Amino acid sequence: MQNKINVLVAETIEKINSAQTQKEITDIKVEVMGKNGALTSFMRNMKDLPNDQKPLVGKFVNEARVKIESVLDAKFKEISEKELKAKLDAEKIDITIDKHDRKMGGIHPINIVRRKVVDFFTSMGFIVADSPEVETDYYNFEALNIPKDHPAREMQDTFYVVPEKIVLRTQTSAGQIRTMEVNKPPIKMINVGRVYRSDDIDATHSPVFHQIEGLVVDEKITMCDLKGILEKFAKAFFGNETNIRFRPSYFPFTEPSVEVDASCPHCKGKGCRVCKGTGWIEILGAGMVNRNVLKVCDIDPDKYTGFAFGVGLDRITSIIYGINDLRLEFENDIRFLKQFN
Ligand code: PHE
Repeated sequence: MQNKINVLVAETIEKINSAQTQKEITDIKVEVMGKNGALTSFMRNMKDLPNDQKPLVGKFVNEARVKIESVLDAKFKEISEKELKAKLDAEKIDITIDKHDRKMGGIHPINIVRRKVVDFFTSMGFIVADSPEVETDYYNFEALNIPKDHPAREMQDTFYVVPEKIVLRTQTSAGQIRTMEVNKPPIKMINVGRVYRSDDIDATHSPVFHQIEGLVVDEKITMCDLKGILEKFAKAFFGNETNIRFRPSYFPFTEPSVEVDASCPHCKGKGCRVCKGTGWIEILGAGMVNRNVLKVCDIDPDKYTGFAFGVGLDRITSIIYGINDLRLEFENDIRFLKQFN
């Protein structure tokens, strides 16, 4: 009997030592010391032994149990520690590692150009004014010399928030009035932002786009000042060899009014696809502030004169980067945007 028990102990210890996982250990435990385990059956069979042998066998079985249990416990602990270490090692994060596929955001081309335009004008002493995108009919039309029945409204149909009263502004020119209401000459301001018109989207139109408004009012301001500043602007953004030309035009809030063209920076005025063979690209509308507009803002038109201009920021961006479809500037396709940063 004692031999059999010794063999069982030796075999069990060998099994335990070669075990690799916690589960194998628990399986061995059940196999040997469980309800139907090998060691348990020695105990169970003790009742059939002669009485004088019972204590001795009982002692062997108990010693065997103590021995196996201590080996089991030690091995179980060893495996647990190994498994925990492996798990921790696998979860370790190396915070010094450089992640090369990190995606960085960038500045939208319209914003790149907007910032440059703002820098350009502020460097010449212009202040940057802000005015609301949701505007009253008064500021967007009425005060700009565009009364209710004026045909100029036709070209600037927009989105009405409250019919006949509140609109999404169609032009940053509304900011001229807001500026002149609270500031008196000398005034040098620009106003940059979104404007809205009920246009269908195509390669050259969008129901939302961006304008830069400029306004200068002081004594003795003439069209020469307007031309000088716009020429500097065109040279700064399209290259030093750029020329500009004025064509007569009409805006209710300027008199006289002009449409301003820049010589095409892509073909240097020779004629190409970008300028449709003309050598010139229209870049903005401008003019001398209409006397009626000055009067509405309580500025004496006999003492002060001024000029104003409105530039399409998206258009300038297109010309600078050679973008041939306005939609690209609003769709925010990452493949397009990536090229600018
Ligand atoms: N507001 C005009 C437009 O949207 C542009 C403009 C601005 C013209 C200032 C003259 C003076 O077309």
